[in-house]
Amino acid sequence: MAMDLDRMLHKCRRDQWTIADIDLSKPARAMSREDEIAIVQYFTDMAGIEMLASALFVEQKRRATDPRLIEIFESFVRDEVRHAQVAKALARHYDVHAYQAYEPNPHMQKFAPAFVDAIRHLTPEIANVYITTGEILLDVALLRSLDDFVADHACGSAMKLINRDESRHIAVDFHMVEHYSSPEYVAAQKDAPRRSLREAARAYGSLFKMLRHARPFLQAVFFEPMDLVDPTHQRLLEAFKRVQLISTKPNVARRPFVRFMLTMQPMFRHPILGALFGRWLIAIIGTDPRVLVKLYDDEDEARAQRMSFDELAEETLGLKYA
Ligand SMILES: [Fe+2]
Ligand SMILES: [Fe+2]
Repeated sequence: MAMDLDRMLHKCRRDQWTIADIDLSKPARAMSREDEIAIVQYFTDMAGIEMLASALFVEQKRRATDPRLIEIFESFVRDEVRHAQVAKALARHYDVHAYQAYEPNPHMQKFAPAFVDAIRHLTPEIANVYITTGEILLDVALLRSLDDFVADHACGSAMKLINRDESRHIAVDFHMVEHYSSPEYVAAQKDAPRRSLREAARAYGSLFKMLRHARPFLQAVFFEPMDLVDPTHQRLLEAFKRVQLISTKPNVARRPFVRFMLTMQPMFRHPILGALFGRWLIAIIGTDPRVLVKLYDDEDEARAQRMSFDELAEETLGLKYA
């Protein structure tokens, strides 16, 4: 069943909050010097990620035509700006000893504008795949693991409110995946005027630039922190498994971009092709080889086929509380 946009819009209006709602009154839990430096750095970077997310929802809003969706995306832009403010406040809260000055990661500074530019020039469908993946990985897996690791009152109270917002974001992200892969949307695209060669070149140029910055960014701001806060890699692999499962949905799997990604993955796993082109493939897909392996089994796939996009979104969020 498709999403009820009226209900979603109602939730977006109702569940707004401010930074004053988080409780920073209790002192931060005691941490080693090493942990404190790492945690303050992660919250500093999280502020940047949230601002990037807000820029992406500006783009989603620009492409939306349904007035309810426009207002929903507008509220997501506000949500993400608020999350950035909260991340900054948490960075200050855990910076108990002022061991050093903290700057947002330089790879993120390069990646963020390249990502926004790529999203602007890619087709809405591809742009949405990247946004959905980004939200699952960075917001669901990283924030959840960070919360487990910090495990104190201030962080917990902030994450609870952030998670409530993210549950709306993920639900709408999945709804958009369903929309862009629906037979109606695909059919309408066939009649739409084709992009000029120049526009297509511009889009591929921006995609290439984004992927070039994606690897060092993901390494520094996602994979390295995850090594500390999710040492068994359980959440990391679960999150990637969710991303892979969306692409097994028949309508999604038929889309050219997803088909392209899906053929890349077995190439990477192939013993000879992988050895020859591995580095090049990683550059194209823009991710870490650890997550390119198939992470789901036949039973997972069969379940995903039976579920609606709404249910898939719900289950992905359920991971946060597992
Ligand atoms: Fe967020
Ligand atoms: Fe979000």
